[in-house]
Amino acid sequence: MQADSTNPVLNSPTVEKVIKPMGHYPLRIVRGEGVRFWDEEGTEYLDAVSGEWVVNLGYRHPKVVAAIKEQLDSIEYVTPVFENEQRTKLAEKVLSKAPKNMRSVLFALSGADAVEGAMHLAMRATGGSEFVSLFSAFHGTTFSTLALSYSYPKMLEGSKEGLDRYLTRQIRVPNYNCYRCPFGLKPGSCDMLCARYIDTAIKHQPDAKVAGVIIELFQSNGGMIPMPEGYIEMVREICTKNGVALIADEVQTAFSRCGDIFASNVVGVEPDLIVMGKAFGAGLPLSGVVAGEGFTSLRGWEAGFTLMATPAVCAGSLAMLEVMEEEDLGKNSTEIGAHMVARLNDMKERYSIIGDVRGLGLMIGVELVKDRESKEPADELTGFVWKDALEKQRLLLGKSGPVFGDFGNVIKLKPAVNTTRDQADEMLDRLERSLAAAQARLDRMH
Ligand SMILES: Cc1ncc(COP(=O)(O)O)c(C=O)c1O
Repeated sequence: MQADSTNPVLNSPTVEKVIKPMGHYPLRIVRGEGVRFWDEEGTEYLDAVSGEWVVNLGYRHPKVVAAIKEQLDSIEYVTPVFENEQRTKLAEKVLSKAPKNMRSVLFALSGADAVEGAMHLAMRATGGSEFVSLFSAFHGTTFSTLALSYSYPKMLEGSKEGLDRYLTRQIRVPNYNCYRCPFGLKPGSCDMLCARYIDTAIKHQPDAKVAGVIIELFQSNGGMIPMPEGYIEMVREICTKNGVALIADEVQTAFSRCGDIFASNVVGVEPDLIVMGKAFGAGLPLSGVVAGEGFTSLRGWEAGFTLMATPAVCAGSLAMLEVMEEEDLGKNSTEIGAHMVARLNDMKERYSIIGDVRGLGLMIGVELVKDRESKEPADELTGFVWKDALEKQRLLLGKSGPVFGDFGNVIKLKPAVNTTRDQADEMLDRLERSLAAAQARLDRMH
């Protein structure tokens, strides 16, 4: 059929053909390999964020590509109600790497619908209906996950559109954040008020019982914030004592990013439910929930999707996990991550704009401030670093944007977990040039 040349929408230069996400940048990428990608003009870029912390083995890992192609040669789709060999093998592999209390895997398509799957499982297991989440958390953009995320209050502003009808009420509690403690306390003398507050919040719900507490094990979009030592142990105890599910949102932290297939194993916690997404499908849509003993029952088809866990996607994910296992990439992530953090701390000695460097494996944040004493966020200069790095250094970084968390002043580094030391140094050399340019701008302002 010929394109309709009279169609007013197709011919309008003012109508956006694609509704674009926030932060859209008009770069046309045509090819990727390892930690590099190329635009349509052949310009090469170095990727310090694995796409969107998704291609954890880099672009087009040969073993992942081969596994997907091989599966596509036999069958591309099997209805979820039939057996699916690749799905079973993947579930077994995931469970073999998860904390030892884990029993089953529920599959889904994106991080947000997997979070909702975990919510269903928690509600069925506990009989509760409320959820506790942290102030600067991000768990997705479906109605209920938006309600769990920091963007919720913004969405409800002057809620004439009736969004509040769907954005459910959730219980928000202050964050863990030792660099900017929400209670104004100092680590070591705070008696872990951020964790203890969760106990108070659970006990003071007059209308309904709490079903779960959902926590990112390293808060990502909220500003790359590590949990203080002892925090998760205390939250685990609080959840157990109150009969509430502990849900670890590992959408960003899983798949060797933090030193193990699951960050739960690194921080030493057995959550009741672990949410997986992003890197799980090695670049294709796949997410899921690993469910612990007592948290594995659903009613009917209450959390299922037609396209979940298709054979080719599962084959790619399985190949990815095998590579991570064979090459001990959790260890690589820990070693290269420590090297990058050490070099960034060295830069901190030279550039006052660096307020704080935080990392767990290859999950790294660099917080930029105008002044180290006042900690005033250097939002605009962070935007400058991101743009300078992309346009002049040909380096893709991440950045906490204006609606991401409290401030937009954190540079994110989450390269592929098989990044070599030389590649990491190349990323840091390029980043340093952009930081030096930002520092010069800051110096001129003073
Ligand atoms: C921690 C966390 N949970 C959930 C989500 C939602 O994932 P998705 O965008 O795939 O729905 C994200 C996405 O950024 C995330 O970072």
